[in-house]
Amino acid sequence: MNYTEEYKRSIDHPDQYWMDQSKQLKWDVSPETAYKEVESGIYHWFPDGKLNMSYLCIDRHIEDGYGKEDAIIYDSPVTNTKEHISYNRLNEEVSKLAGGLQSLGLKKGDTVIIYMPMIPQALYSMLACARLGLIHSVVFGGFAPHELALRIEDCKPKAIITASNGIEIERIIPYKPYVDKAIEQSAHKPEHVVIYDRKLGVDIPYKPYDVDYDALVAKSESATPVSVESTHPLYILYTSGTTGKPKGIIRDTGGYATALKYSMKHVYGVEEGDVYWAASDVGWVVGHSYIVYGPLLNRNTTILFEGKPIKTPNASTFWRVISEHKVKVMFTAPTAIRAIKKEDPNGRYIKKYDMSSLKYQFLAGERCDMATLKWTEQHLKVPVIDHWWQTESGWAMLANMVGIERHPVKPGSASFPVCGYNIHILNENGQEVSDDTEGFVCVKLPLPPGCLQNLWGNPERFKAGYLNKFPGYYFSGDGGYRDEDGYVFITGRVDDVINVAGHRLSTAEMEEVVASHPQVAECAVFGVHCDLKGQKPLALVVLKPENTLEHKTISEEIIKEVRHEIGAVASLRDVVVVNRLPKTRSGKILRKLLRNISDDLEYNVPSTIDDVNIISEIEEVFKQYQIGIHKKISF
Ligand code: COA
Ligand code: AMP
Repeated sequence: MNYTEEYKRSIDHPDQYWMDQSKQLKWDVSPETAYKEVESGIYHWFPDGKLNMSYLCIDRHIEDGYGKEDAIIYDSPVTNTKEHISYNRLNEEVSKLAGGLQSLGLKKGDTVIIYMPMIPQALYSMLACARLGLIHSVVFGGFAPHELALRIEDCKPKAIITASNGIEIERIIPYKPYVDKAIEQSAHKPEHVVIYDRKLGVDIPYKPYDVDYDALVAKSESATPVSVESTHPLYILYTSGTTGKPKGIIRDTGGYATALKYSMKHVYGVEEGDVYWAASDVGWVVGHSYIVYGPLLNRNTTILFEGKPIKTPNASTFWRVISEHKVKVMFTAPTAIRAIKKEDPNGRYIKKYDMSSLKYQFLAGERCDMATLKWTEQHLKVPVIDHWWQTESGWAMLANMVGIERHPVKPGSASFPVCGYNIHILNENGQEVSDDTEGFVCVKLPLPPGCLQNLWGNPERFKAGYLNKFPGYYFSGDGGYRDEDGYVFITGRVDDVINVAGHRLSTAEMEEVVASHPQVAECAVFGVHCDLKGQKPLALVVLKPENTLEHKTISEEIIKEVRHEIGAVASLRDVVVVNRLPKTRSGKILRKLLRNISDDLEYNVPSTIDDVNIISEIEEVFKQYQIGIHKKISF
């Protein structure tokens, strides 16, 4: 296939292009309409089609004679477990759990929160919801009860499915007590909490809403798939925005299934039956699309890995998994490779394993620096493909589409627009910029199938955040440029969202917690460069004049509180006390200026600044704390 022709077809005739692709699915009612603009800028894909995601991921393959093939390989170095789960077994687990949820009174359209570690029951739960048309919302285990409570209040789940505990290397994470705390904090109370006991000797405090997962499954009848409209929400996935409140991305069913099925072959180059591994977590979009739905739709074997790139037990784990399970395509974040490279700079561990099954290494989640790209290429000896996307898109927006036509890799670029994404780089006035000029990365509407449909309970925020800035376009929140060969380079977020170790976090959310410290008069939290995690948050705080506490004590209290309120994943470890913050004359903190100074970027001093001398003061503080002066990422 020729990429240019294929891409052109997808942009010139999106209706025909995606209608053809939708035929790869088995619909209960085949769609006759490709897409429909239901409101200005909001498009629904295949609005008259009906289908069931769990059927497509499981039953369909059994009907086609592949029931005995591996659907999931659960590899858990933290519990020393390896388990092969066939499509037949997956069917039994999912349909019985779905029967159990039905017996609790759950029905199509109800919402369910899933707060679980990386265990098969997390996947069974997602698929059981999909089987019944329940809308799941998976919450990442690294978030604290307060964050979970925010999500409970927003999506009002009828039930929560959780586990007794998670395991972070050797540390037990008490999931069930976190759920209890979150329910206590939330105004909305779910009717049931279904708990999977991992039988690791962890205490499960009893509450009247508790239901034992195993007992529920044991006494239940299998449930058959419920046919839903293509536009029916499959899930809500909360992601960080520019305010303290996370936003619930709504994903449809039919458009998403079409896009994911297409992406497995065309973006990742895998065929049915291949082993595919996305080393992420089910709590993130990568987990939804490429641990669960994408590979299972495409009848691949998906790897469910409960471990870390290092320390479980060492930097060889990834290579052992690839070699042992014959992984053909792997997907991880550059930060994971940086962690491995730090422990094993010469790639000694890689040489110990037969890596011949691996055809491509994909990277995403954050910008890939040159050193990481080169190290990975040199040691894995396969094409290393950076691709760009986000929770909102649900699948790649920029990629070297190896299943269509592989192009040479240009370091620093995630290559070309994926078919269906009409990408434009615009300036502040909405005009197309010339080659090599940085601008706002946007997608001309309509977005292809698979992308967000709206924000849960907040359509106004959806329009304000994504559609209104450049009418007729979706605004991604990222900056970037296109070079003369058409390669697109993403330069980073243009808002206050940061990316720490491939985890998307909101500085506004952290600021709310920092500002609530009784001794803090005002503060600014923003992302600064980190050699390992790409970015890390830094809090600059101005203390109240009457403060008598030591700065160290205040910093420790703030760090503890952020961990307590947002979760360990927030990774705020640097709090610096300053005399004042740069502001405009009207009193607005100049966060962008702080970001630019810390990143050693060229910047213009805004004409609205109230006192220009503050810049040298801030530079002095950054120098003292070695912030931004050790930038090693280069292209
Ligand atoms: N449940 C509970 N706690 C969690 C968690 C989870 N699921 N995931 C992370 N945490 C905790 C960690 O234990 C750590 O706690 P600590 O501060 O007590 O040590 C904290 O959150 C920060 O975690 P992280 O930012 O991941 O740092 P780390 O030092 O533990 O690990 C890496 C560094 C690079 C090994 C790790 O971040 C990694 O594997 N990143 C890849 C991320 C990824 O795949 N992202 C998906 C996008 S494709
Ligand atoms: P998330 O929604 O958590 O997947 O995070 C999405 C954000 O991560 C994007 O908006 C980008 O800022 C960043 N990102 C993801 N992939 C890449 C990539 N390949 N290159 C640069 N930035 C990326």
